[in-house]
Order: sequence, then structure tokens, then C-alpha cells
Amino acid sequence: MKVIGLMSGTSVDGIDAALTEISGKGYAVKAQLIKGITYPYSVDVRSRILALCDHEPITLAELADLDDAIAHHFVAAIDALEIDLATIDLLGSHGQTLHHRPPSASQLGHTLQLGRGALIAHLTGCPTVSNFRVADIAFGGQGAPLVPIVDACLLSKSDSDLAVQNIGGIGNITYLPPWKRDLGNDDMAAPQGVIGWDTGPGNALIDWAVTKLSQGQKTYDDNGCWAAQGTPYPPLIAQWLQHPFFHQPPPKSTGRELFGAGYVEQCWNDAQHHSLSEEDFLATLTDFTAATIELSYRQFLPQLPTEVLISGGGSYNSYLMARLQQRLPTSSVLSSDQRQLSAGYKEAIAFAVLAYWRWHQIPSNLPSVTGASQACLLGELWTPTPSS
Ligand SMILES: Nc1ncnc2c1ncn2[C@@H]1O[C@H](COP(=O)(O)OP(=O)(O)O)[C@@H](O)[C@H]1O
Ligand SMILES: [Mg+2]
Repeated sequence: MKVIGLMSGTSVDGIDAALTEISGKGYAVKAQLIKGITYPYSVDVRSRILALCDHEPITLAELADLDDAIAHHFVAAIDALEIDLATIDLLGSHGQTLHHRPPSASQLGHTLQLGRGALIAHLTGCPTVSNFRVADIAFGGQGAPLVPIVDACLLSKSDSDLAVQNIGGIGNITYLPPWKRDLGNDDMAAPQGVIGWDTGPGNALIDWAVTKLSQGQKTYDDNGCWAAQGTPYPPLIAQWLQHPFFHQPPPKSTGRELFGAGYVEQCWNDAQHHSLSEEDFLATLTDFTAATIELSYRQFLPQLPTEVLISGGGSYNSYLMARLQQRLPTSSVLSSDQRQLSAGYKEAIAFAVLAYWRWHQIPSNLPSVTGASQACLLGELWTPTPSS
């Protein structure tokens, strides 16, 4: 099946669209990236999304307009792939998260992704799966992270364990114990023993700082070059690591609600209090990001993994990659590109696979990851009515 996966994460940098060829039955699935593009948000839509994430009030009418605008951006991302839509079997669209409330002892979680699937299906004429997170949340789960089952089915090794660390706006880990995938077995059971959770901020803090320090001229630290000119300041890293999220055991998920502008403004105030230069502040934020990942592994993994495969935009930040390697000296820290899985499009490919499973009625949440009380089908399927 030819499936397009569409993903835009907490960085709000743009929509990743991955045209993917998917085959196989059940969990014995193979996915090959044919073409990927990142379609940037317009400045106006991006700033409206970020303002909402920073708790700016909005009317329901404005929310409806934004939902329309995001759906149209997702369709524009599909158009930018420049392929004949008649050849596409299915779309899997994550949408843009505007709000995510993890579950607590007293209430279920709640999550809101805009860019509704019904409109995307109507505009493209392609069956579309969207709203992937809500069913898991209804079963008491975090609704996140959802990619670990795909990591397990595409990347598990039979002879050693592996961590797959995505570094988008937020970071998340999948830990894969050794698992022999039997791709010839149509009844292969769902992967066992997989754990995963959000580790905390990924690029979100670095992006905020670069935007502020460059007065909006830059939105990210290209290759980590700016941070690499500075030196991390360990006392602040130790102080910031005291945030309760880093000590909360999994399952857990987070977003801009915890690690948004309010949080990083406090980091900036702390840095000024200690008279850090701009370079040292960026180095400290970047090393802190690596430290949150290290701490998560040391506290919650059964053992430090042999290999850590990095995906997401953070894999293009050499300084962040070097800090992480230094903090995890017994693991090989590599980009997932080095294991033939596109680091930039891995999450979009994953939503293509999740849509494929929804189409074939295969449950695709992992209760061992999300904490849901049972496995269930993920996503709502919108089938366009042929126009008469
Ligand atoms: N060349 C690069 N150097 C450093 N960081 C980069 C580079 N390219 C992308 N990034 C970072 O990756 C982020 C986007 O990563 P992505 O995986 O798309 O995250 P999300 O899923 O949150 O959208 C950018 O905001 C930026 O911080
Ligand atoms: Mg992105």
C-alpha cells in the first residue's frame, strides 16, 4: 500500500510528509520511504499556534479558523510531494497538538490535535486516519508516545537491546529488548517488553533561546554551532534537573504545557543571575537537554542500551549529539540514518504505519508504554464519498 504519513510536532517548524510503501500482515510490517518533504507553516499560522500553546486566549470562532488553516497546510504538504493522489491508498495525519493533558489519579488525560482528518479526506479524496491519541487516552493511557510499537516492528534486533531516542520539540525514548522479528509470520505477536516515555524537552528550549538571542533572525541553532562556542555551567544543569517531571516514573508524557516559554524564561533568568554569556547559556541548555535523557535512562531503563539511535531534528545538532555521547559513554549514539531509517522522517513514517494498522484493524497502542488498560485500534478513519 502507498501511504502518506503526516506529522508536525511540538517544534511547530513545519509538516513532515512521508510517502511510504508499506507491506506485510499484522505486526510483520515493512515500511520504505519513497519521498519525504517538510512543508513550513506560514509565519501567521505558526505564531497563532505558538501563542495558543503559551496560553493566549482565543475565541471558538478563531479556533475553527485555525483548524481550517492547519488542515489546508497539511493538504499543501501533500501537494508539495508532487505525486498523483490517485496512486495513494491512505493518509495518516497526526495533526498539530495544541494541548496535551496527561492523565492523573483523578482524571483521564485529554489531548487536542487540529487539522481535522475529515477535511483532509474531503480535499484530497484519499481515505485518511487522524486523531490517533484519543482512543488510548479513553482507556486511561497517556495517548503518547505512540511511535514505540513502530520502532519495535521496524528496528528491533534479535541479539541486542537498543534505545530509539527521538529529539523533536520534546524528547521521547523507546527501549527495545532483543526481539526476533519473524517477517514471514502473518500472526506474529505484538512486541513484548517495549517501554517508552517522553524524556522532557528536546529542541524546545534551545529553539526558544536562539529565537530570543537572535531577535527572531534564527529559530534554531544550526548544527549546534552557537552552543559549541560556549561552555556548559553544571550548577544550573543540576538545579534544573530537580524538576519533578524528570523524577516521575513512566508512563509519562509532556509538552509545551510544562516545557514552554514560561519554563525557559525562568532558565534565562537563572542564567542572567549567574552572568552566563549567550554562548554559555546555549551550551548549558543543550547539555541540560542531553542530561535529561541521560537521567531518564539511568533511572528508568533496565540497563544502559548498547546502541542509541537518534531521530528528529535534534539529530542534526552535532553539539547535542556529542554531549549525549559523552554522557552515555558505554552506548553508541548514532543517527537513525546510519541504520537506514530516515532520522528526519521517522515520525511521519510511523504515522503512515499506524494508519496502515488502523486500516487493517490491528490494535497499535502498547499498554506497556502508554499505561492504557488494554490494546485498542488507534485513529479515526475518514473515507471520502466519491463526488456524484
Ligand atoms: N540543522 C539543524 N541543526 C540543529 N538543529 C536542527 C537542525 N535542523 C532541525 N533542527 C532542530 O529540529 C527541530 C525540528 O525537529 P522535529 O523532529 O521536526 O521536531 P517536531 O517533531 O517537534 O516538529 C527544529 O526546531 C530545530 O530545533
Ligand atoms: Mg517538525
